[in-house]
Order: sequence, then C-alpha cells, then structure tokens
Amino acid sequence: MLASLATLLALTSLGICAVHSSIKEVPNLNWDFVIVGGGTAGCVLANRLTEISRFNVLLIEAGPTNEGVMDSIVPALQAGTVRSRVDWNFTVTPQQGLNGRSFPYQRGHVLGGSSSVNGLFYTRGSSSDFDRFARVTEDPGWSWDQLQTYIKKSEKFEHPADDHDTSEQFDPNIHGFSGNVAVTLPGFIHPPVDSATLQAARQLEQDFRFNLDMNSGSPLGIDSIQVSASKEVILSSGAINTPHILLHSGIGDQSDLETLGIPVLLHNPDVGRNLSDHPFFVTTYNVVPGSIDLGPWANLGFNSTLQAEALDLWEKNRTGPFVALLSSDHVAWTRLPDDSPLFKEFPDSSSGPNSPHIELVLGAAGTVYAVGVNLVSPVSRGSLKIRSNNPFDNPLIDLGIFNSDFDLFTAREAVKTSLRFSQAPFWKDILMDINPPFSSSMTDNEIEAVLKNVTSSALHSVSTAAMSPRNADWGVVDPDLLVKGVSGLRIVDASVMPFVPAAHTQAPVYIIAERAADMIKAKWN
Ligand SMILES: Cc1cc2nc3c(=O)[nH]c(=O)nc-3n(C[C@H](O)[C@H](O)[C@H](O)COP(=O)(O)OP(=O)(O)OC[C@H]3O[C@@H](n4cnc5c(N)ncnc54)[C@H](O)[C@@H]3O)c2cc1C
Ligand SMILES: *[C@@H]1O[C@H](CO)[C@@H](O)[C@H](O)[C@H]1NC(C)=O
Ligand SMILES: *[C@@H]1O[C@H](CO)[C@@H](O)[C@H](O)[C@H]1NC(C)=O
Ligand SMILES: *[C@@H]1O[C@H](CO)[C@@H](O)[C@H](O)[C@H]1NC(C)=O
Ligand SMILES: *[C@@H]1O[C@H](CO)[C@@H](O)[C@H](O)[C@H]1NC(C)=O
Ligand SMILES: *[C@@H]1O[C@H](CO)[C@@H](O)[C@H](O)[C@H]1NC(C)=O
Repeated sequence: MLASLATLLALTSLGICAVHSSIKEVPNLNWDFVIVGGGTAGCVLANRLTEISRFNVLLIEAGPTNEGVMDSIVPALQAGTVRSRVDWNFTVTPQQGLNGRSFPYQRGHVLGGSSSVNGLFYTRGSSSDFDRFARVTEDPGWSWDQLQTYIKKSEKFEHPADDHDTSEQFDPNIHGFSGNVAVTLPGFIHPPVDSATLQAARQLEQDFRFNLDMNSGSPLGIDSIQVSASKEVILSSGAINTPHILLHSGIGDQSDLETLGIPVLLHNPDVGRNLSDHPFFVTTYNVVPGSIDLGPWANLGFNSTLQAEALDLWEKNRTGPFVALLSSDHVAWTRLPDDSPLFKEFPDSSSGPNSPHIELVLGAAGTVYAVGVNLVSPVSRGSLKIRSNNPFDNPLIDLGIFNSDFDLFTAREAVKTSLRFSQAPFWKDILMDINPPFSSSMTDNEIEAVLKNVTSSALHSVSTAAMSPRNADWGVVDPDLLVKGVSGLRIVDASVMPFVPAAHTQAPVYIIAERAADMIKAKWN
C-alpha cells in the first residue's frame, strides 16, 4: 500500500496523540488499526476508535495539516484551494456525453480531506436514500430509522455566526447537539435579495413548497513504507483514491491488472466500476441596476478593499460575509412531475417519492443572480481505472455524465424550472432574461446542446467500492464494509455507497463512518 506521506497521526493508549510529518518519526508500535486517509471518514474513525484506550491507531494522511492554510480555514475562500497543495489536482477523462470535454476534479489533499476544501453544505439526503442502501445490501442497519442514532451522534447544531433568531428556521427535534460536526444555519443574511428568493418561491408553490428543515428525511423542499496492523487496515481514502489503492494492490479486474503488469491478489471486476456523481451546471440572470438593494457587500467578489474588510471581520469576530460561500442563500429541492413524459420512457431514478431529482442552489453574487443546478438522482454510471502500474500516476476518472439520456432530459427540465423561477411575478423588473449561452426561447434540442457544453460535476462521487449483500457475487464490500474475499481490510468512505444520495455527500459520509466505528468496536472490544 503506497501513499505520498505527509501527515501521520499516532493515536495511542491513554489519550496520547502525536502528529508526525515523516514515517521515520513514528514509533515502531504494534498498531491495532492503520487508517489510510485522514479525511472526512478517516478522522471520525480515528476519533471513535481511540475512545477504547487499549487501541493503538495510526492515521496516515497524504496531505499536510490545514494549519495556516487560509483558503481551507475561511469558508468563503474555498475556491482558492483549487489546484493548490491541498488539492490532488485530478482531471476527468474526456466526457463522451459532454462533447469530449474534460475538467479539473477537486479532492482534498489535506487533513480533513474533502471536508477541508468543500462548500460546507450539510444535507443528509432523503429517508428513502438510506432505505435503498438497506434494501440493496439486505442490512436493515443502513435504513434511515436505524441510522438515527448515528445521524444525531455526528452532529452538533449551534447558533449561527450572526446569532439571529432561528426559531422558525429549523426543527430542533431532528438535530443532534452534542456531536463533533458543527452544523448551523447561514450566519450572514444578504438582505434583501435573500428574502426575495423566498418570496419568489412562494409565488410558485407547485414547484417550490416551503420546507422548514430539509434534513428531516424529506428534503423536497501517502515514500513506500510499510506499516502493519494487527487487527485491521481501513481504507478511508475517498471514492477516487480508495479504488486506486485497491487496484494498485492487485484487487480488481484480473485482465485489466494483468494488462498493466500488476500481480493479481484478488479478481473482482467491480472495483472502481460503478462510479456515480451529480451533474452540475449554473444558470445566471443579471439584476436590473437599482431595482433591488444588494447590500453593502454587493461588490465583494471584485473589490479588494471590501475583501480585506470581510477578512478582518472574520478574523476578529468570526462574523460577516466570509462565514460561508458567497453566493448561496437557499437551496430548493424539486421532483419531476409524476406525469412527466420522461417516465413513459424511463423508470423513476429517485430512491422514492419523497426524494428529489433536482436541487437548485439560489443566491446573488454581486449584480448576478445565480441558480446552480445539481441533478441529484442520476442514472448514469462512470468508472475509476488506473492508467499504469505506477501508483503515483493519477487515475482515469470517468464520471459518465449524461451516459443516460434520462439525466440529459432531466437537466433540460431543470433549465425550465430555473426559467420558471426567474419569471415569478416578484422578479418582474428585477431579473433580466437568462444569460447566454442559454436563452428563454430555446427548443429542447437547443437546451440539450448547450447543456453538453456547460455541465460539469458537483464533486459528489461515490460507489467505486460499493456495498452488496453478504453472499452476493457482485459488489466490493459486505454490509459491514469488510472487503469481500480478503481478511483484515475494511473500507469506510464515500466509495461504499451503492447509490449517490440526493444530497451533498459529506453528511452521509459522516453517518456511515459513525456506524462503521461502532461495528469495528463491537468486533474487537
Ligand atoms: C470542492 C468540493 C466541494 C464539495 N462541497 C460539498 C458540500 O458543500 N457539502 C457536502 O456535503 N459535500 C461536499 N463535497 C463532497 C464531500 O466533501 C465528499 O463527499 C466527502 O468529504 C468525502 O469524504 P471521504 O471520507 O470519502 O473522502 P475525503 O474526505 O476526500 O478523504 C480522503 C482522504 O484520504 C487521503 N488520501 C487519499 N489517498 C491517500 C493515500 N494513498 N495515502 C494517504 N492518504 C490518502 C486524502 O488526502 C484525503 O484526506 C464537496 C467536495 C469537494 C471536493
Ligand atoms: C497541485 O497543483 C498546484 C499548482 O500547480 C501545485 O502548487 C500543488 O503542489 C499541486 N498539489 C499537489 C498535491 O501536488
Ligand atoms: C471598494 O469598496 C470601498 C468600500 O466600500 C469603496 O470605498 C471603493 O470605492 C470601492 N472600490 C471600487 C473600485 O469600487
Ligand atoms: C461581532 O459579533 C457579535 C455577535 O457574535 C455581534 O453582535 C457584533 O455586532 C459583531 N461585531 C461586528 C463589528 O460585526
Ligand atoms: C458548444 O461549444 C462549441 C465549442 O466552443 C461551440 O462551437 C458550439 O457552438 C457550442 N454549442 C452551443 C449549442 O452552445
Ligand atoms: C451498478 O449499479 C447498477 C445500478 O445502476 C446496479 O444494478 C449494479 O448492481 C451495480 N453494480 C455494482 C457492482 O455495484
């Protein structure tokens, strides 16, 4: 197992924890558990497993810590992490469904993993997303109801940064208040564009039903070094790197591995094979100058004086516009209508009737109102393969975007939803016509042609080492996340999800990691 090593956390008994930046510094202990990947899931495991004081745990992270990395620490500066030393710098293969285009595919290369570089959206997905995990794996422990303990155990709901009254804005009954993942509501309101979003949505109730809390379950609305573990090696390297490591270790499709000259340890053609991700694109509308007050921070995106003020406010007080991403105030989750002609041709791809097909991310950035579109119940599947037997070569990441026409057609319908939203009576005299390359007079075929030029990914890849029932002749891990056909190797990260949930994927990863920690403790304690 190879990793370009940079950060090692040696977590030993009696709560003693040390951070090392070279394997030579690590004491030569008899490690019970070696966790490969100090990311979203890996950090949860390291924390929970060391609650048992007898356990010696080594957490290996390829990237640095995020200490001093301002673009990782300050939420609004997230974009600065792209193509930096905390990014793996991946690029997707030319996407057939997107006119052969390729684009960067960010993954966190830093302690905290992608959670240290992401947009901080906290969305669990729908109850039926988890019920589908339970059904597909034949393990009721993955159902929404049975995961409630872990959902709440993970979360620490807090007051927002601006301390505003949240009583009408979330449902306390469904949140956890004593976990480790701090969750809150947007802590900086952009008046009055923010309330405008809600007012326009209320005028279109058929598309946009008000939902007090989208997290209720109904969201509508590493030098090669060897270290060894006496109990388990746990791969938590994420949906791209976990299958990459498996394949380079000889666990994968026999003929693919033989072609690359990699000795086969275990033939399993499903490693890396079912990658699923959310297609993403943005529609924008210019705001008529003077038609609505965009607030004192309207030019934040372009004005360095304002940026310095915002950073100062954040550093001194942890308040102001830098507490979150700049351009998203609300999200709306919508379904294709039950009578959509699409369902004559295709089965419903969503996990159930309370689960959305489309997510709209709404908000103003300066004088532009943006409607980001995330296709959250995609059918298309891609793949993760390796290009050579050199583990330091980046893998071949094929997202398979628009391999299924259902996804392309859903995207087209989502453009129409965006247009309907922009045409709510409230926006009259405020929002201009949709910006190129879209136009409000396009035919279906024309919209689809544009979509192939502008769609990329929401960076929510999963399913490259998917769970399946215990004795299934397909899949990569059992429902307890142990790798089929080998012993002492478990996978705990986004790659085990058999389907991508209708959610930004970090909350589901936290939930999976919490249950996994309990399963590991139950086995070895
Ligand atoms: C830019 C961006 C924005 C996103 N926005 C959101 C959002 O707003 N909300 C949301 O819910 N989700 C978001 N996501 C998705 C979410 O962050 C991921 O789904 C989730 O964090 C994945 O967790 P993971 O544990 O599977 O992998 P990761 O968190 O990526 O962790 C994998 C870790 O393993 C390390 N690693 C990899 N290979 C090796 C190796 N060989 N040796 C040692 N270490 C290794 C990596 O450096 C990394 O630290 C976003 C993702 C990105 C990239
Ligand atoms: C990613 O690319 C940037 C820019 O070229 C570089 O500075 C950075 O070190 C690279 N990241 C890694 C992990 O190599
Ligand atoms: C930037 O913002 C500051 C503070 O509001 C303002 O005084 C200045 O004129 C702005 N600069 C530009 C180029 O708009
Ligand atoms: C600092 O934060 C507090 C609340 O946490 C707030 O009341 C105060 O207005 C903030 N100061 C500034 C200058 O914004
Ligand atoms: C898609 O992009 C190509 C290359 O830039 C361009 O020639 C073509 O006109 C675009 N198609 C549409 C429909 O915008
Ligand atoms: C891949 O996904 C499809 C559903 O799209 C499923 O039927 C199949 O069993 C999956 N295969 C694996 C190996 O996960």
